[in-house]
Amino acid sequence: MGIYTKRESLIQALLPFRKNKRIGFVPTMGALHSGHLSLVKTALEANDCVVVSIFVNPTQFDNTGDLDKYPRTLEVDVDLLNTLQGKVFVFAPEASVLYNDHVVAKTYRFGSIANEMEGKHRQGHFDGVGTVLNILFRIVQPDAAYFGEKDYQQLQIVKKLVQIEKLPVQIVGCPIVRENNGLAMSSRNKRLTKAQFEAAGLISKTLFEAKERFKKQSIDQINQWVSEQFNDSSVLSLEYFEIANAETLKTVERRRSGNKYRAFIAAFAGDVRLIDNIALN
Ligand code: PAJ
Repeated sequence: MGIYTKRESLIQALLPFRKNKRIGFVPTMGALHSGHLSLVKTALEANDCVVVSIFVNPTQFDNTGDLDKYPRTLEVDVDLLNTLQGKVFVFAPEASVLYNDHVVAKTYRFGSIANEMEGKHRQGHFDGVGTVLNILFRIVQPDAAYFGEKDYQQLQIVKKLVQIEKLPVQIVGCPIVRENNGLAMSSRNKRLTKAQFEAAGLISKTLFEAKERFKKQSIDQINQWVSEQFNDSSVLSLEYFEIANAETLKTVERRRSGNKYRAFIAAFAGDVRLIDNIALN
C-alpha cells in the first residue's frame, strides 16, 4: 500500500490503472472505522485499485471548535487499511496541496436539497464538501466513488455535484454500519464518554421505532413522539427530527402514495454532533 501526500506522485502511481482498469475512490476525513472500511471493501470488489483520501477539510466546518477537535489518527488509519486485501492507495495531502493558498469554498447551486437539514443547520457546509470533492475527483479521476448513506443528504449533493461539474464518475451509495447499540459509526463517536456513547443508542432506536410507527401513525404523531423521547434524555439534545421526501429532501407533513420517505435526526451529546437517518418505506 502506498501513502501519497502530493498530487503528482499519486497521479504517477495511478498511471498503470488508467487503461483497461477500474479505479475506485473513497473520500474520507480519516479516524477510520468499520463504516469507512465497508466502503473500501465494496470499492475493492468492483475495481482494480482503490484510492482512499484522508483529509480533514477546513472549508466544510462552520465551527472551528469542531474542526480543531476532529480526531486525526493517520498511523492507525493506515494500519487498518493494511488489513484489507487488495490494492489501496492512501492520499493524505496537506491543505496547501489541495487549495494552494486559497482555502475557500466555491459557491454551488445545488438547489433546494442543499437548503434542508444539514444545509440549514451548518452554514456553507455543502459548498465546502462540493469544493473539496471537485478538487479530489479531478486529481484521482476515478471510475466510481463510494459514499455512505449515513450522510444521506451529502450523497444526494455529490450526485448533483458530478452533474454540475460534468465529472464522468459513478456515485455509489453504501449502507450505514452501526455499533452494537445501534449508534451509527462516526469518527466523532471517539469523542463520546462511555455514558454519552450508551445514551446515543437512543438516536437509532428512535429511528427504528419511527419506521414501525410510520406504518400506522400520522407524521404529526411521530414528530410528537420523537420529541418526547429526547425530552426524557438528560444526555442528548435533539437538533432536528424530520421526515422528508427521499428525493427532494423536503420536510413533509402528510404522505402521498408512491413517494419514498426517510427520517433524519441530528442530536448533540455534549458538544458532539451526531446524525443518522433511515428509509421509512
Ligand atoms: P467522513 O465523515 O470521514 O466520511 C467518509 C465517508 O464514510 C462518507 O461517505 C460517509 O457517509 C461514510 N461513512 C461514515 N460513517 C459511516 C457509517 N457508519 N456507515 C457507512 N458509511 C459511513 O463524509 C466525509 O467524511 C466528508 O464530508 C468527505 C466526503 C470526505 C468530504 O470532505
